[in-house]
Amino acid sequence: KYLQESEVSQECKDLIATLPMEKGWLASHLHQYQGFWHITRQLQGVLSCQKHFNALNSDILIVTTPKSGTTWLKALTFALLNRHKYPKMFQNHPLLTKNPHFLVPFLELDLYNDKDLVPNLNSIPSPRLFSTHIPYVSLPKPVIDSDCKIVYLCRDPKDTFISLWHFTNELKMEGTCANSLEDSLEKFCNGVSICGPFWEHVLGYWKESLDQPKKIMLMRYEEMKKNPSFVLKELARFVGCPFSKEEEDEGVIDDILKLCSFKNLSNLEVNKKGKLTSGEEHRAFFRCGKVGDFKNYLTIEMIEKLDMITEKKLGHYGFRF
Ligand code: A3P
Repeated sequence: KYLQESEVSQECKDLIATLPMEKGWLASHLHQYQGFWHITRQLQGVLSCQKHFNALNSDILIVTTPKSGTTWLKALTFALLNRHKYPKMFQNHPLLTKNPHFLVPFLELDLYNDKDLVPNLNSIPSPRLFSTHIPYVSLPKPVIDSDCKIVYLCRDPKDTFISLWHFTNELKMEGTCANSLEDSLEKFCNGVSICGPFWEHVLGYWKESLDQPKKIMLMRYEEMKKNPSFVLKELARFVGCPFSKEEEDEGVIDDILKLCSFKNLSNLEVNKKGKLTSGEEHRAFFRCGKVGDFKNYLTIEMIEKLDMITEKKLGHYGFRF
Protein backbone atom coordinates (compact mmCIF):
# COMPACT_ATOMS: atom_id res chain seq x y z
CA LYS A 1 0.00 0.00 0.00
CA TYR A 2 2.99 2.28 -0.08
CA LEU A 3 4.16 1.83 -3.63
CA GLN A 4 1.60 3.14 -5.98
CA GLU A 5 0.78 6.82 -6.20
CA SER A 6 -2.87 7.41 -6.98
CA GLU A 7 -4.31 10.52 -8.49
CA VAL A 8 -5.39 12.97 -5.88
CA SER A 9 -8.35 15.34 -5.84
CA GLN A 10 -8.01 19.06 -6.37
CA GLU A 11 -8.88 19.55 -2.69
CA CYS A 12 -5.98 17.30 -1.70
CA LYS A 13 -3.62 19.06 -4.11
CA ASP A 14 -4.60 22.44 -2.68
CA LEU A 15 -4.03 21.18 0.84
CA ILE A 16 -0.67 19.62 -0.06
CA ALA A 17 0.52 23.00 -1.34
CA THR A 18 0.11 24.35 2.20
CA LEU A 19 1.69 21.43 4.09
CA PRO A 20 5.29 20.77 5.14
CA MET A 21 6.84 18.19 2.85
CA GLU A 22 9.80 15.79 3.10
CA LYS A 23 11.21 13.16 0.79
CA GLY A 24 9.72 9.76 1.64
CA TRP A 25 11.57 6.53 2.32
CA LEU A 26 10.36 5.24 -1.03
CA ALA A 27 9.99 7.40 -4.13
CA SER A 28 7.01 9.31 -2.83
CA HIS A 29 6.84 12.39 -0.68
CA LEU A 30 5.66 12.64 2.88
CA HIS A 31 3.23 15.42 3.83
CA GLN A 32 2.72 16.54 7.40
CA TYR A 33 -0.99 16.75 8.14
CA GLN A 34 -2.38 17.31 11.65
CA GLY A 35 1.09 16.61 13.04
CA PHE A 36 1.74 13.30 11.24
CA TRP A 37 3.52 12.33 8.01
CA HIS A 38 1.59 10.66 5.20
CA ILE A 39 2.46 9.54 1.70
CA THR A 40 0.40 11.32 -0.95
CA ARG A 41 -2.11 8.57 -1.66
CA GLN A 42 -2.63 7.98 2.01
CA LEU A 43 -3.34 11.65 2.61
CA GLN A 44 -6.01 11.51 -0.08
CA GLY A 45 -7.52 8.56 1.79
CA VAL A 46 -7.35 10.24 5.19
CA LEU A 47 -9.20 13.31 3.89
CA SER A 48 -11.82 11.16 2.22
CA CYS A 49 -12.36 9.05 5.36
CA GLN A 50 -12.64 12.15 7.50
CA LYS A 51 -15.34 13.42 5.18
CA HIS A 52 -17.29 10.28 4.41
CA PHE A 53 -16.67 7.37 6.78
CA ASN A 54 -19.68 6.69 8.94
CA ALA A 55 -18.80 4.37 11.81
CA LEU A 56 -21.39 1.98 13.23
CA ASN A 57 -21.50 1.06 16.91
CA SER A 58 -20.80 -2.54 15.94
CA ASP A 59 -17.69 -1.74 13.85
CA ILE A 60 -14.27 -3.01 14.85
CA LEU A 61 -11.28 -0.97 13.76
CA ILE A 62 -7.74 -2.33 13.87
CA VAL A 63 -5.33 0.58 14.22
CA THR A 64 -1.59 0.07 14.02
CA THR A 65 1.70 1.82 13.55
CA PRO A 66 3.18 0.50 10.30
CA LYS A 67 5.28 -2.68 10.72
CA SER A 68 3.98 -3.50 14.17
CA GLY A 69 2.30 -6.77 13.14
CA THR A 70 -0.78 -5.45 11.31
CA THR A 71 -0.89 -8.46 8.96
CA TRP A 72 -0.89 -10.87 11.92
CA LEU A 73 -3.54 -8.97 13.87
CA LYS A 74 -5.75 -8.75 10.79
CA ALA A 75 -5.51 -12.51 10.33
CA LEU A 76 -6.20 -13.24 14.00
CA THR A 77 -9.18 -10.89 14.26
CA PHE A 78 -10.67 -12.13 10.99
CA ALA A 79 -10.31 -15.76 12.10
CA LEU A 80 -11.74 -14.92 15.52
CA LEU A 81 -14.85 -13.17 14.19
CA ASN A 82 -15.50 -15.79 11.49
CA ARG A 83 -14.78 -18.92 13.52
CA HIS A 84 -18.38 -20.17 13.39
CA LYS A 85 -18.63 -19.56 9.66
CA TYR A 86 -15.45 -21.54 8.91
CA PRO A 87 -15.18 -24.21 11.59
CA LYS A 88 -12.88 -26.36 9.44
CA MET A 89 -10.03 -23.93 9.68
CA PHE A 90 -7.46 -25.90 7.77
CA GLN A 91 -9.70 -26.95 4.91
CA ASN A 92 -11.62 -24.08 3.37
CA HIS A 93 -10.68 -20.96 5.31
CA PRO A 94 -10.33 -17.68 3.35
CA LEU A 95 -6.97 -17.08 5.06
CA LEU A 96 -5.60 -20.11 3.23
CA THR A 97 -6.10 -18.51 -0.17
CA LYS A 98 -6.25 -14.76 0.52
CA ASN A 99 -3.76 -12.37 2.07
CA PRO A 100 -4.98 -10.82 5.37
CA HIS A 101 -4.78 -7.32 3.80
CA PHE A 102 -7.35 -8.41 1.22
CA LEU A 103 -9.70 -9.73 3.90
CA VAL A 104 -9.38 -6.72 6.22
CA PRO A 105 -8.98 -3.60 4.09
CA PHE A 106 -7.36 -0.36 5.17
CA LEU A 107 -9.82 2.54 5.25
CA GLU A 108 -7.46 5.18 3.89
CA LEU A 109 -5.32 2.97 1.65
CA ASP A 110 -7.96 0.69 0.13
CA LEU A 111 -11.55 1.75 0.65
CA TYR A 112 -11.33 5.54 0.52
CA ASN A 113 -8.44 5.77 -1.88
CA ASP A 114 -10.23 6.69 -5.06
CA LYS A 115 -10.41 10.45 -5.51
CA ASP A 116 -13.80 10.22 -7.27
CA LEU A 117 -15.56 7.33 -5.57
CA VAL A 118 -16.97 7.01 -2.08
CA PRO A 119 -17.45 3.33 -1.24
CA ASN A 120 -20.80 1.99 -0.11
CA LEU A 121 -20.03 -0.09 2.97
CA ASN A 122 -23.64 -0.50 4.11
CA SER A 123 -24.06 -4.03 2.85
CA ILE A 124 -21.09 -5.45 4.78
CA PRO A 125 -22.45 -7.76 7.48
CA SER A 126 -21.97 -6.72 11.08
CA PRO A 127 -19.53 -6.56 12.76
CA ARG A 128 -17.64 -4.78 9.98
CA LEU A 129 -13.88 -5.14 10.37
CA PHE A 130 -11.61 -2.43 8.99
CA SER A 131 -8.07 -1.30 9.60
CA THR A 132 -6.12 1.92 9.49
CA HIS A 133 -2.81 3.57 10.36
CA ILE A 134 -4.54 6.94 10.99
CA PRO A 135 -3.30 8.66 14.19
CA TYR A 136 -5.88 9.33 16.91
CA VAL A 137 -6.11 13.08 16.23
CA SER A 138 -7.00 12.44 12.59
CA LEU A 139 -9.61 9.69 13.06
CA PRO A 140 -12.94 10.41 11.36
CA LYS A 141 -15.25 12.01 13.94
CA PRO A 142 -17.89 9.23 13.82
CA VAL A 143 -15.21 6.76 14.96
CA ILE A 144 -14.69 8.83 18.10
CA ASP A 145 -18.39 9.58 18.67
CA SER A 146 -19.76 6.08 18.07
CA ASP A 147 -19.38 3.02 20.27
CA CYS A 148 -17.23 1.23 17.71
CA LYS A 149 -14.27 -0.66 19.13
CA ILE A 150 -10.65 0.19 18.42
CA VAL A 151 -7.93 -2.44 18.73
CA TYR A 152 -4.58 -0.66 18.70
CA LEU A 153 -1.33 -2.51 18.10
CA CYS A 154 2.20 -1.20 18.51
CA ARG A 155 5.68 -2.67 18.80
CA ASP A 156 9.03 -1.75 20.29
CA PRO A 157 10.32 1.08 18.08
CA LYS A 158 13.69 -0.63 17.62
CA ASP A 159 12.07 -3.65 15.93
CA THR A 160 9.48 -1.45 14.23
CA PHE A 161 12.24 0.65 12.75
CA ILE A 162 14.26 -2.33 11.51
CA SER A 163 11.15 -3.88 10.02
CA LEU A 164 10.28 -0.61 8.25
CA TRP A 165 13.82 -0.17 6.99
CA HIS A 166 13.82 -3.67 5.48
CA PHE A 167 10.33 -3.25 4.07
CA THR A 168 11.03 0.02 2.29
CA ASN A 169 14.29 -1.28 0.85
CA GLU A 170 12.54 -4.44 -0.30
CA LEU A 171 9.96 -2.34 -2.13
CA LYS A 172 12.44 0.02 -3.75
CA MET A 173 12.46 -0.10 -7.53
CA GLU A 174 15.32 -1.99 -9.06
CA GLY A 175 18.15 0.34 -9.90
CA THR A 176 17.42 2.81 -7.08
CA CYS A 177 19.75 3.10 -4.10
CA ALA A 178 18.81 1.40 -0.85
CA ASN A 179 18.10 3.68 2.14
CA SER A 180 21.05 3.59 4.49
CA LEU A 181 20.42 2.48 8.04
CA GLU A 182 21.89 5.71 9.42
CA ASP A 183 19.81 8.10 7.28
CA SER A 184 16.65 6.11 7.86
CA LEU A 185 17.22 6.09 11.61
CA GLU A 186 17.71 9.82 11.65
CA LYS A 187 14.45 10.34 9.79
CA PHE A 188 12.63 7.90 12.08
CA CYS A 189 13.97 9.61 15.21
CA ASN A 190 12.91 12.98 13.82
CA GLY A 191 9.41 11.61 13.32
CA VAL A 192 9.67 11.61 9.53
CA SER A 193 8.33 8.15 8.72
CA ILE A 194 5.00 6.90 7.44
CA CYS A 195 2.40 7.91 10.04
CA GLY A 196 5.21 9.17 12.25
CA PRO A 197 6.22 10.50 14.65
CA PHE A 198 6.02 6.91 15.91
CA TRP A 199 5.99 7.93 19.59
CA GLU A 200 3.19 10.48 19.23
CA HIS A 201 1.13 7.88 17.36
CA VAL A 202 1.45 5.47 20.29
CA LEU A 203 0.91 8.19 22.86
CA GLY A 204 -2.35 9.35 21.26
CA TYR A 205 -3.89 5.88 21.54
CA TRP A 206 -2.26 5.00 24.87
CA LYS A 207 -3.80 8.02 26.59
CA GLU A 208 -7.21 7.32 25.08
CA SER A 209 -7.03 3.63 26.00
CA LEU A 210 -6.58 4.67 29.63
CA ASP A 211 -9.50 7.11 29.46
CA GLN A 212 -11.79 4.81 27.46
CA PRO A 213 -10.84 1.20 28.19
CA LYS A 214 -14.13 -0.14 26.80
CA LYS A 215 -13.52 1.58 23.49
CA ILE A 216 -9.78 1.18 22.95
CA MET A 217 -7.68 -1.85 23.72
CA LEU A 218 -3.93 -1.41 23.35
CA MET A 219 -1.90 -4.44 22.33
CA ARG A 220 1.84 -4.95 21.96
CA TYR A 221 3.51 -7.22 19.43
CA GLU A 222 5.88 -8.50 22.12
CA GLU A 223 2.96 -9.63 24.30
CA MET A 224 1.32 -11.35 21.35
CA LYS A 225 4.52 -13.28 20.73
CA LYS A 226 5.04 -14.12 24.40
CA ASN A 227 1.55 -15.17 25.34
CA PRO A 228 -0.56 -15.48 22.21
CA SER A 229 -3.47 -17.47 23.66
CA PHE A 230 -3.91 -15.04 26.56
CA VAL A 231 -3.89 -12.07 24.18
CA LEU A 232 -6.30 -13.76 21.77
CA LYS A 233 -8.73 -14.47 24.62
CA GLU A 234 -8.53 -10.84 25.74
CA LEU A 235 -9.13 -9.70 22.19
CA ALA A 236 -12.14 -12.00 21.88
CA ARG A 237 -13.63 -10.61 25.09
CA PHE A 238 -12.93 -7.03 24.05
CA VAL A 239 -14.65 -7.34 20.67
CA GLY A 240 -17.63 -9.06 22.27
CA CYS A 241 -17.20 -12.66 21.14
CA PRO A 242 -15.43 -14.48 24.00
CA PHE A 243 -14.51 -18.13 23.64
CA SER A 244 -16.84 -20.56 25.40
CA LYS A 245 -15.49 -23.24 27.69
CA GLU A 246 -16.38 -25.84 25.02
CA GLU A 247 -14.42 -23.93 22.39
CA GLU A 248 -11.43 -23.72 24.68
CA ASP A 249 -11.66 -27.46 25.36
CA GLU A 250 -12.00 -28.23 21.66
CA GLY A 251 -8.77 -26.34 20.92
CA VAL A 252 -10.31 -23.51 18.87
CA ILE A 253 -7.85 -20.98 20.29
CA ASP A 254 -4.87 -23.11 19.30
CA ASP A 255 -6.33 -23.67 15.85
CA ILE A 256 -6.69 -19.92 15.25
CA LEU A 257 -3.16 -19.31 16.47
CA LYS A 258 -1.82 -22.06 14.25
CA LEU A 259 -3.75 -20.84 11.22
CA CYS A 260 -2.41 -17.30 11.73
CA SER A 261 1.12 -18.25 12.75
CA PHE A 262 4.06 -16.76 10.90
CA LYS A 263 5.07 -20.23 9.78
CA ASN A 264 1.68 -21.13 8.35
CA LEU A 265 0.83 -17.81 6.70
CA SER A 266 4.27 -17.18 5.24
CA ASN A 267 4.36 -20.64 3.65
CA LEU A 268 1.02 -20.37 1.89
CA GLU A 269 1.19 -20.10 -1.88
CA VAL A 270 -0.88 -16.90 -1.86
CA ASN A 271 1.58 -15.18 0.47
CA LYS A 272 4.70 -16.47 -1.27
CA LYS A 273 3.63 -15.40 -4.75
CA GLY A 274 0.77 -12.90 -4.67
CA LYS A 275 0.73 -9.11 -4.77
CA LEU A 276 -1.56 -6.43 -3.37
CA THR A 277 -3.44 -4.40 -5.97
CA SER A 278 -1.11 -1.51 -5.21
CA GLY A 279 1.92 -3.58 -6.16
CA GLU A 280 3.56 -4.76 -2.94
CA GLU A 281 4.38 -8.45 -2.92
CA HIS A 282 2.63 -10.33 -0.14
CA ARG A 283 5.88 -11.91 0.94
CA ALA A 284 7.23 -8.47 1.94
CA PHE A 285 4.83 -8.57 4.90
CA PHE A 286 6.47 -11.72 6.27
CA ARG A 287 10.17 -11.22 7.02
CA CYS A 288 11.24 -13.03 10.19
CA GLY A 289 8.58 -12.12 12.78
CA LYS A 290 10.93 -12.09 15.76
CA VAL A 291 11.24 -9.96 18.86
CA GLY A 292 14.68 -8.36 19.25
CA ASP A 293 15.89 -8.76 15.66
CA PHE A 294 17.07 -5.14 15.94
CA LYS A 295 20.13 -6.44 17.82
CA ASN A 296 21.42 -7.83 14.53
CA TYR A 297 21.44 -4.37 12.94
CA LEU A 298 21.63 -1.50 15.42
CA THR A 299 24.78 -0.34 17.19
CA ILE A 300 24.78 0.23 20.97
CA GLU A 301 24.60 3.99 20.31
CA MET A 302 21.60 3.59 18.02
CA ILE A 303 19.83 1.43 20.57
CA GLU A 304 20.53 3.96 23.30
CA LYS A 305 19.24 6.78 21.14
CA LEU A 306 15.95 5.03 20.39
CA ASP A 307 15.51 3.97 24.02
CA MET A 308 16.18 7.49 25.21
CA ILE A 309 13.54 8.97 22.91
CA THR A 310 11.05 6.31 24.01
CA GLU A 311 11.69 7.02 27.67
CA LYS A 312 11.50 10.78 27.16
CA LYS A 313 8.32 10.72 25.11
CA LEU A 314 6.40 7.81 26.65
CA GLY A 315 7.98 6.94 30.02
CA HIS A 316 6.52 10.06 31.59
CA TYR A 317 3.05 8.75 30.73
CA GLY A 318 3.75 5.36 32.24
CA PHE A 319 4.19 3.62 28.91
CA ARG A 320 7.10 1.25 28.40
CA PHE A 321 7.79 -1.41 25.79
P1 A3P B 1 9.67 -8.24 10.81
O1 A3P B 1 10.04 -7.34 9.66
O2 A3P B 1 10.36 -7.85 12.08
O3 A3P B 1 9.85 -9.68 10.49
P2 A3P B 1 2.98 -5.18 9.40
O4 A3P B 1 2.09 -6.35 9.19
O5 A3P B 1 2.44 -4.17 10.35
O6 A3P B 1 3.46 -4.63 8.13
O7 A3P B 1 4.25 -5.76 10.20
C1 A3P B 1 5.13 -6.65 9.59
C2 A3P B 1 5.93 -7.36 10.66
O8 A3P B 1 5.10 -8.37 11.27
C3 A3P B 1 7.12 -8.07 10.07
O9 A3P B 1 8.12 -8.06 11.09
C4 A3P B 1 6.55 -9.46 9.83
O10 A3P B 1 7.51 -10.47 9.69
C5 A3P B 1 5.72 -9.65 11.08
N1 A3P B 1 4.66 -10.66 10.90
C6 A3P B 1 3.89 -10.87 9.82
N2 A3P B 1 3.06 -11.90 10.03
C7 A3P B 1 3.32 -12.37 11.26
C8 A3P B 1 2.78 -13.45 12.04
N3 A3P B 1 1.83 -14.24 11.57
N4 A3P B 1 3.28 -13.65 13.28
C9 A3P B 1 4.26 -12.84 13.76
N5 A3P B 1 4.81 -11.82 13.08
C10 A3P B 1 4.35 -11.57 11.83
